[in-house]
Amino acid sequence: MNFNLIWDNLPLLLLGAGVTIKITAISVGLGFLLGLVVSVCRMSGIKLLNAVCVCYVNIIRGTPILVQIFLIYFALPRVIGHQIDPFLAAVAACSINSGAYVSEIFRAGIQSVDKGQMEAGRSLGLSWMQTMIYIIIPQAFKHVIPPLGNEFISMTKETSQVSVIGFEELTRRGQLIISKTYGSLEIWVAVAVIYLIMTLGIARLVNYLERRFATDDRD
Ligand code: ARG
Repeated sequence: MNFNLIWDNLPLLLLGAGVTIKITAISVGLGFLLGLVVSVCRMSGIKLLNAVCVCYVNIIRGTPILVQIFLIYFALPRVIGHQIDPFLAAVAACSINSGAYVSEIFRAGIQSVDKGQMEAGRSLGLSWMQTMIYIIIPQAFKHVIPPLGNEFISMTKETSQVSVIGFEELTRRGQLIISKTYGSLEIWVAVAVIYLIMTLGIARLVNYLERRFATDDRD
């Protein structure tokens, strides 16, 4: 094991790690918004809206993220007539993918709130939407922190798949360095350790948030 090889290439790897964090944060952020909208649509009772959302979730969860990346980066340009920037394709694929998983997390979270809360809100004269926004979603929030944390960790690792379209995140950086130095042992170990540090960091953050919001439902 040549530690100098790791040391010399650490700045490049850390640059890649920064890009991984950036694309993960944007994707989970957009996935969060998308997931929230989809989960509320699914529970709105409007049949068409529900059907569209069910299709979306099933298609995304039923196909590999790698194929979705290929579809957006290679297939979509054939339809729209011009090339898509790798960053845009990577963010789009990861956000759309994450949105489907997050919507199921929110749906479970919203369903975990007692039915009486909706009835109470409606009987006070609030609309369905107002009750959702002011009463149900805030209560559902703390129940979804642990699974959302899982999603964050999953996406951190899933973003490695955008390396296939040449997008220079951590995994791609590792591949590029190895193609020059042939140090596959050293570099892949370093890449794995950097992913591990990132995911353990997120796990700690989620743990903290969980404790911070761990209040009784009656509070
Ligand atoms: N690796 C699986 C796939 O290729 C899982 C993707 C998980 N995505 C997520 N947002 N949690 O589809």
